[in-house]
Amino acid sequence: MPYVTEKTLTDVVSQRWSDIPNPRLKQVMQAAVKHLHAFVREIEPTQAEWAVAIDFLTRTGQMCDDKRQEFILMSDVLGVSMLVDAINHRQASGATPSTVEGPFHVADAPAVANGGNMAVNAPGIPCFVSGKVSGVGGEPIAGAVLDLWQTDGDGFYEAQRPEIEGPWMRGLYHSQPDGSYLIRTVAPIAYTIPMDGTIGELMNRTNLSHMRPAHIHFALDAPGYHGLVTHLFRSGDKWIESDAVYGVKEPLIVDFRKMPAGSKAPGGELLNEPFYVVHYDFVLERKAQAAAA
Ligand code: BEZ
Ligand code: FE
Repeated sequence: MPYVTEKTLTDVVSQRWSDIPNPRLKQVMQAAVKHLHAFVREIEPTQAEWAVAIDFLTRTGQMCDDKRQEFILMSDVLGVSMLVDAINHRQASGATPSTVEGPFHVADAPAVANGGNMAVNAPGIPCFVSGKVSGVGGEPIAGAVLDLWQTDGDGFYEAQRPEIEGPWMRGLYHSQPDGSYLIRTVAPIAYTIPMDGTIGELMNRTNLSHMRPAHIHFALDAPGYHGLVTHLFRSGDKWIESDAVYGVKEPLIVDFRKMPAGSKAPGGELLNEPFYVVHYDFVLERKAQAAAA
């Protein structure tokens, strides 16, 4: 039936978009037509509202370049990034949960020796993070790569400090033969998601929080195991229950234990300023063995 009415339009469009040889693309487009039409039928936008929506999406796209991805931020604040992450990381029980990567990871972080400081000259309170990397079966994993990135003690990532040359607040560590690791950094603080774009514009018209609770990003990689992208969140943070991007999972909340000046830090050094100590054991899931030929 070639001609449409408001009643028949969705069926006509769905029928036309079923003529797609690739089965996955067909499935995706069928669902897109079904849900987009249902959305528009529910909202019943005026022509002016539809023009506002088109303008919003146009400006969102125009903000994107190799350093800024406003569409990912949209996906983050709508909880879609965490849903895609959850669907793709249905981990074995006992494995450390994953969470969003976020926009601030920079590849090729500098290698830092076990116990070395990835926050040299950075503002903030010293913070030592230590623990073990092991498999779900309890076996220690030696030589696992721990790629870290975080804000400095003022709440800024490297990308937000254009005045600083070279790596800032990131480092590549390796677990030791017994699976242990020791990181020296500064304590991260809570910060706002970027609010100078279209997503900020939208958030500012809501009562939603645009803060992320203090966290350290980790990407772990070890041969034979599934990679893990996650954060450690600071317990007690004011925004732990209202993370703007829904990234907090309970097993990722850790205590930052404050130690007074004059205490011995993990690694043995005596520090003449207060510092934090964090303990966390990462558990990775082994990849399925390829079937023997
Ligand atoms: C972050 O943790 O770096 C982040 C994640 C999502 C949106 C903005 C920032
Ligand atoms: Fe972050």
